[in-house]
Amino acid sequence: EAIEKGGYEHFMMKEIMEQPKSVADCLRGRVIAEQSHVKLGGIHHHMEDLMNANRIVIIACGTSWHAGLVAEYIFEEVARIPVEVEYASEFRYRNPIIGKGDVVIAISQSGETADTLAAIEIAQKNGATVLGVCNVVGSSIARVSDEGAYTHAGPEIGVASTKAFTAQLTVLTTMALMVAKEKKMLSDVNLQKLLFELEQVPQKIEETLKLDEEIKVISALYKDATNFLYLGRGYNFPVALEGALKLKEISYIHAEGYPAAEMKHGPIALIDEEMPVVFIATKDSSYDKVVSNIQEVKARKGRVIAIVTKGDVLIPKMVDHVIEVPDVHEILMPMISVVPLQLLSYYIAVMRGCNVDQPRNLAKSVTVE
Ligand code: G6P
Repeated sequence: EAIEKGGYEHFMMKEIMEQPKSVADCLRGRVIAEQSHVKLGGIHHHMEDLMNANRIVIIACGTSWHAGLVAEYIFEEVARIPVEVEYASEFRYRNPIIGKGDVVIAISQSGETADTLAAIEIAQKNGATVLGVCNVVGSSIARVSDEGAYTHAGPEIGVASTKAFTAQLTVLTTMALMVAKEKKMLSDVNLQKLLFELEQVPQKIEETLKLDEEIKVISALYKDATNFLYLGRGYNFPVALEGALKLKEISYIHAEGYPAAEMKHGPIALIDEEMPVVFIATKDSSYDKVVSNIQEVKARKGRVIAIVTKGDVLIPKMVDHVIEVPDVHEILMPMISVVPLQLLSYYIAVMRGCNVDQPRNLAKSVTVE
């Protein structure tokens, strides 16, 4: 087992550190920016369905569902197709309105999640096309889907999903750009620019991983907190959900993720000098709004840890701690901004003496209801 962990103490850390490679593996042959090439061979036969879809319904659970939320924003922005993101467990039991002309994208690391499988069956029975985005080759979901694309992240052993999430985002972004290209929704110049940026993501994750020690220091300061709030807007809203999920899964600290603007409808009541609030506040189209939300938290004496874009001079003056990540186009930012949150939850859990790779009550793959 020590050999399998590749010198790391836990699989989770190994898998976090593998992300530059897993994302690069996922892009290989699919994206060649130089040639404006973007193609997922696995969904070739259903491209027409996807391009002409009335809507896309994304079905998933857990972390895969968070990847689906990011994909919703990206698909709607670049391909202008309406998207709904559903928890498989809810979708399957409510007589869903779905049929011919709808395309379902089922996202699952393991490819074995029972609720997702059952939801796919319902969608297919009603005539929808199902595309699977799975990590495990030959898994049940990969087999029952009409077509699909693998995430090629390699085996993920840690129960808390890390490299599978960034690989899912890679596939889903590639898929959205492929549709946008075919539908001519983006200019050649903009498409190529995005593809170049996508190709640079592995290197930017590598750069982000160098924040390791810095994040460890912050983790030590907050390891005894009893609650955490994670806030973000736009593309970083699902990242807030994912950051909170990672923390609660492995450290057993209660954490909530929220869209930053919704804070005033509830979570703001919880803020006092004891409450750590993680803001994912990179420079994007919601930046100014997030800055106001940070002010609202600081006015109530919350302790703010902010993930910001390198070179930001405004937010560092307002908050308790900053974690600077490399700049990237906003649709690609979740692949970068989630990385410090993975590390934060990892270190906090380790410092609390938790079993990081096998947290209590959780399973890697939930094959029962
Ligand atoms: C479990 C795992 C999570 C995972 C979820 C969905 O809860 O612990 O890490 O995100 O199942 O699994 P899937 O294999 O369908 O992505």
